[in-house]
Amino acid sequence: MKIMKIEGDRKLTGTIRVSGAKNASVAIIPAAILTDEEVTICNVPEITDTDALCDILSDLNVETSRASGSLIINPKNMENVEIKEDHSKKLRASYYFMGALLGKYKKCSMFFPGGCSIGARPIDLHLKGFEALGAVVSKNKNKYTVEAKELKGANIYLDIASVGATINIMLAAVRAKGKTIIDNAAKEPEIVNVATFLNNMGAKITGAGTSRIKIEGVDYLHKCFHEVIPDRIEAGSYRRMGALCGERLKVDKLIPEHLDSLLSKLEEIGIDLEIGQDYVIVSKNDHIKPTTIKTATYPGFPTDLQQPFTVLLTQADGKSKVVETIWENRFMHISYLNKLGSDITVKNQTATIEGKTALKGTEVVATDLRAGAAMVAAGLVAKGETTITNVEHILRGYENIIEKLTDVGAKIALIEV
Ligand code: EPZ
Repeated sequence: MKIMKIEGDRKLTGTIRVSGAKNASVAIIPAAILTDEEVTICNVPEITDTDALCDILSDLNVETSRASGSLIINPKNMENVEIKEDHSKKLRASYYFMGALLGKYKKCSMFFPGGCSIGARPIDLHLKGFEALGAVVSKNKNKYTVEAKELKGANIYLDIASVGATINIMLAAVRAKGKTIIDNAAKEPEIVNVATFLNNMGAKITGAGTSRIKIEGVDYLHKCFHEVIPDRIEAGSYRRMGALCGERLKVDKLIPEHLDSLLSKLEEIGIDLEIGQDYVIVSKNDHIKPTTIKTATYPGFPTDLQQPFTVLLTQADGKSKVVETIWENRFMHISYLNKLGSDITVKNQTATIEGKTALKGTEVVATDLRAGAAMVAAGLVAKGETTITNVEHILRGYENIIEKLTDVGAKIALIEV
């Protein structure tokens, strides 16, 4: 087991370089099997979620290697065999193999995916999309089988603009016969990046980034080179840390427009920002104004940044509110923030934060990935030592977090116990 120890109340200054987007990479890696040729994907973060997907590729006899920041995937000798249950259960994104295998072989059999316990996380919209394309879905205990004689383009309306369902349906539809239209598609930048990757392999997808995506099926996809976009959630997490204890902390190699909602909120509460073409410089403000945030699908305020933002609001002068609309179980970090000294109550998916409260280091738990980022942020601002357990969650999504924070002045260590 690993734990993190943070000696808080130190200034963060210098530059943090943002890694490639986890939530784009975890879809692009499974999407790579749609061709039989070698693809090179650069800027894939080295995190345990991408490692877990490479283990699944290995189950499928797909070769992977890493070279100068790129992940090379060669599916030449691939076999459509069952993915090990342990591997499927390791992360949510294993479900992208459903769409990709269905698209390529018209058949797949997969165990339920895993992932953070932030809500019920049904996949009914993914399965309805597969069915609309002509597949038959059956469920036996904890395993799904999805198969089709032929996949045919269809008009699919998503009841919820789901990121996962939009991507999974794209993966199944790129090699279907005819045209597929996904309406009420999710618009997140990661979806645009996945569609660009598929187009780089020869797919014909238009409209990604809008609520209507059109896919003209093709028979064949080929090798390509692709670059993963910067991780807007990682960038947002470090900006929050900068707002808590930064002194001109530069968060570098990002796309500022991907986080307009966060930048507006940071400006609204009085955080001093310098926004460049591919960087943001953040400094702490001792007099933060309280505010209300409500999570929403892109371009609204991202649920994945809600938990770290709560930490910032513990330092605002007055009462703030955080309304979570996407996941029903994304307030697990609150009891640990209160253990550190905050004054937060949760009722009906709304957290009410009474600021400003001094935080004092203690033992806390990373209950999920972004709750873990929130605990790191809290540990950085708290006086004394904070110990975080269950840090495996954090390592799933933040590449080199210890090195990145140490380089800008944090006292943080990962310890094997
Ligand atoms: C993606 O999850 C991200 N994960 C999540 O990030 C992120 O929180 C979420 O999108 C929302 O932005 C990955 O990209 C791997 P959804 P996903 O399908 O695709 C409901 C992180 O911290 N829904 O957009 O699973 C669902 O219950 C992770 O990096 C259905 O009802 O999210 C939720 O309320 C956590 N039926 C809403 O839609 C379905 O079939 C949005 O979910 C699918 C979803």
